Amino acid sequence: MLPSVIVVLMLLSFTCGENPAVQVILTNKGLQYGKHVGAGWIQDKLESFIFPDISGEIPISFFGKLQYTLTGITITKCDFPEPSVEFYQNATGFKTSMSGLSVALTGGWTTLFGFIHSSGSFDLAIFSVDVTSVVQLGKDADGHLSVTSASCDAQVGNLDIQCKGGTSWIFQPLVEHYKGSIKGEIEARICPNVKEIIANLESHLQAMKVSFDVDQDITLELPLTGLPVIDASSLNLGLKGEFYSIKTHAEPPFEAKPFTVQKQSGYMLSVGLSEFTLNSGSYGYYSAGLLQTLINDSMIPPGSHVHLNTSSMGPFIPQLPKLFPGLLMNLQVYAREVPLFSFQPGSVKLNLLGAVKAFAIQPNGTQTPLFKLSVDSIFSGKPWTADGKLKGSMAMNNLTVTLASSEVGTFKTDAIESLVRMGSQVIVANLNEKLGKGVDLPRMKQAELVNTVMAVEEGFIAISSDAQVLQTDGRFN
Ligand SMILES: *[C@@H]1O[C@H](CO)[C@@H](O)[C@H](O)[C@H]1NC(C)=O
Ligand SMILES: *[C@@H]1O[C@H](CO)[C@@H](O)[C@H](O)[C@H]1NC(C)=O
Ligand SMILES: *[C@@H]1O[C@H](CO)[C@@H](O)[C@H](O)[C@H]1NC(C)=O
Ligand SMILES: *[C@@H]1O[C@H](CO)[C@@H](O)[C@H](O)[C@H]1NC(C)=O
Ligand SMILES: *[C@@H]1O[C@H](CO)[C@@H](O)[C@H](O)[C@H]1NC(C)=O
Repeated sequence: MLPSVIVVLMLLSFTCGENPAVQVILTNKGLQYGKHVGAGWIQDKLESFIFPDISGEIPISFFGKLQYTLTGITITKCDFPEPSVEFYQNATGFKTSMSGLSVALTGGWTTLFGFIHSSGSFDLAIFSVDVTSVVQLGKDADGHLSVTSASCDAQVGNLDIQCKGGTSWIFQPLVEHYKGSIKGEIEARICPNVKEIIANLESHLQAMKVSFDVDQDITLELPLTGLPVIDASSLNLGLKGEFYSIKTHAEPPFEAKPFTVQKQSGYMLSVGLSEFTLNSGSYGYYSAGLLQTLINDSMIPPGSHVHLNTSSMGPFIPQLPKLFPGLLMNLQVYAREVPLFSFQPGSVKLNLLGAVKAFAIQPNGTQTPLFKLSVDSIFSGKPWTADGKLKGSMAMNNLTVTLASSEVGTFKTDAIESLVRMGSQVIVANLNEKLGKGVDLPRMKQAELVNTVMAVEEGFIAISSDAQVLQTDGRFN
């Protein structure tokens, strides 16, 4: 039933035209590591767990009731066997089982029987506790991952209770008699606690952000696009992975294409990042009018033998100094179209279609348009990871300059083209120096990526990685 519902929902989400642009696969290796960290965390929690006082009554035939209170209960010893966890297709989630948990507790007791008060201490050992919990994963309306308890089953194998002090000799036999119901009482308290932990986790998930502002101009939206998919050895999440301009929030005129990331079971995580994600970012900046700049003469290094004035342009455009002698110039540089990235096996290509509009600045400040050039270039690059950093290199494959329109008559663009090519080469060399040093891989407060490898595939980048929980506060080990 459930699998067919998922298929229908997946189809619905595809027909709505929303393919995930980011895919995340958690492998069994990742699940087991997560469990190991989680188990350590639970053990630490247990050791410092403060039990509430427990009060109750035991009816004693003909004599009335024995009222008791158990106080100051602490764990003296806990044998916490490593639980097992597996992907559970039936519930689209995980199945966690723990068997053989044993806990020794100590505390104080007080009783009231009629008007007789008594008090003492007790030792309680709980043996062979088995807990099986199935957690179901889903997605809420805002695209958060959700977790719910699908089933929980708890069994206590055996109990041993020793009461000491006061009138314990009277009711120690009673305690033996009621052992079965005390066992039932303890069993009944386990699953509500497990469900509370899951509900707590769920409220954390609901509070998580699904969109992140990258800077003041663009935001990245990462909600789930469909329900989580579980198979026997992995959990697969599809995320929107789309950048938007904060100002326009305009949809780009292209869509995310479906792609398939190969699961790498030797790594904890596999992530696929579609070229759509990068291109939506590019569109975000473009649609907000941010891919343009003005260049004036004060930005040209003083030592340069070419300056932004009409006389300096003489060797390139002979008629210019004659038509407009001795005037400073401005260049308006902008992207004619959305710069598009394309991912091909082993390389990333960037197609930049740019334009340059040149103006002469009249003595009264008026800008007189002179000409417009189209500057088309193709860059290619290669990203990789090394020493925990994301590195890369890039090269300019092609650059052509053509005259798009002119107010000063036609002229040859070959010399300008070599000039722009030289300038671009300087920029590329600078970028390569930075890319060679690399930038740190994204890292969270509690975890970092290790053993990360990446490969550029057709239409997407595949990243496989292990994660490592940081032991900064000594909670995880
Ligand atoms: C999954 O569900 C089916 C039908 O409800 C059941 O027959 C099967 O035993 C279940 N599998 C597991 C591993 O629980
Ligand atoms: C050039 O532009 C910069 C920044 O836009 C500006 O501060 C400067 O005054 C301009 N210089 C000229 C000569 O127009
Ligand atoms: C124009 O640039 C040249 C250098 O190429 C410089 O010698 C000259 O003084 C500049 N003229 C003006 C008007 O700024
Ligand atoms: C500025 O000077 C130019 C050229 O001399 C002239 O064509 C234009 O009308 C003037 N503009 C203003 C606002 O004075
Ligand atoms: C560079 O682009 C021009 C014009 O688009 C094309 O004719 C030429 O073949 C390209 N050269 C290379 C090396 O790609």
